[in-house]
Amino acid sequence: MEKDIQRKDIIEKLDSDLTVIKTKNDLASLKALYLGKTGVITNLSSKMKELDPSDRKEYGKFLNELKMEVLEKLETASKEIESRELEEKLNKEKIDITLPGRKHLKGSIHPMTRIIEELEDLFVSMGYDVISGPEVETDMNCFTKLNLPVGHPARDSQDTFYIDNDYLLRSHTSPAQVRTMEANTLKEPLRIVCPGKVYRRDDDATHSHQFMQFEGLVVGENISLADLKGTLELFAKKLLGEKTNVRFRPSYFPFTEPSCEVDVTCFKCGGKGCSLCKQTGWIEVLGAGVVHPNVLRMSGYDPEKYTGFAFGPGIDRFAMFKYGITDIRQIYTNDIRFLEQFDRKDVE
Ligand code: PHE
Repeated sequence: MEKDIQRKDIIEKLDSDLTVIKTKNDLASLKALYLGKTGVITNLSSKMKELDPSDRKEYGKFLNELKMEVLEKLETASKEIESRELEEKLNKEKIDITLPGRKHLKGSIHPMTRIIEELEDLFVSMGYDVISGPEVETDMNCFTKLNLPVGHPARDSQDTFYIDNDYLLRSHTSPAQVRTMEANTLKEPLRIVCPGKVYRRDDDATHSHQFMQFEGLVVGENISLADLKGTLELFAKKLLGEKTNVRFRPSYFPFTEPSCEVDVTCFKCGGKGCSLCKQTGWIEVLGAGVVHPNVLRMSGYDPEKYTGFAFGPGIDRFAMFKYGITDIRQIYTNDIRFLEQFDRKDVE
């Protein structure tokens, strides 16, 4: 009976203590008050030794049950505190999902890069290697070794930016021909294309001081003008459409003999005649020819054994046609409003 009263008192006291605690710290102090070294329950167990040994077992059981009950109540209280603290934290850190998000600008592939990748794929499928060359070139590679010795009048036709007497900004990608042939020390047959920037002193709606060319060079045994024609016809039809016709006109370049200029059916009017093609129905797109024996010889190839062909389109015009760009300078000025259009118009 006495034990029951004791138990009732302790539990009632604990219940009322529990109603006032707020934090985990409070709870820890309360736990010490009941179960700590000098706590209520611990004090009760020290009474054990005063008891008659026959009563000890039952008293032990009573203490154990009481201790369990206290622990359970403390545990429940601890869980309540935890969930209340969590709720308070969540309320404080509430995320306002009505706030509009930040828009991420999405990049797109530049029209010139698209054209270059398309052309590279085509030529790689025909067994060509893609190479690159420096934009700062030597006068030697850009002119002399391409059969334009110092004082040659054709040097003036490419208004070149000179850095000093020996170095310049390349005015065409043809020095890539020289570099490739010279690097090929075994003088084996080769097939390369070289896309890249070139520079000339020009600046209007269809001429930029910087533009892109796509040099091609094939050297081997029995390579002829017929191979060049077949290759360029394929090139034009693949890039501009199957209906495109190709016309070869005789021309002059010091590094090719014979040389030609190549026209394609006007992209705008399809050959009927319009302002773009000046009513001729044709648009000139590239210069090409059979590699001059002097060029082969200067780069270490025996012109008696090997022949070759080369071509060098300016590819900005293709991009202008394909993407309806009316001013070449837009391709290079990185105006975001211009670039954004390709994202929407031409998503792959
Ligand atoms: N390099 C010449 C130009 O820029 C084009 C060309 C390349 C012509 C290869 C013939 C052979 O005008």
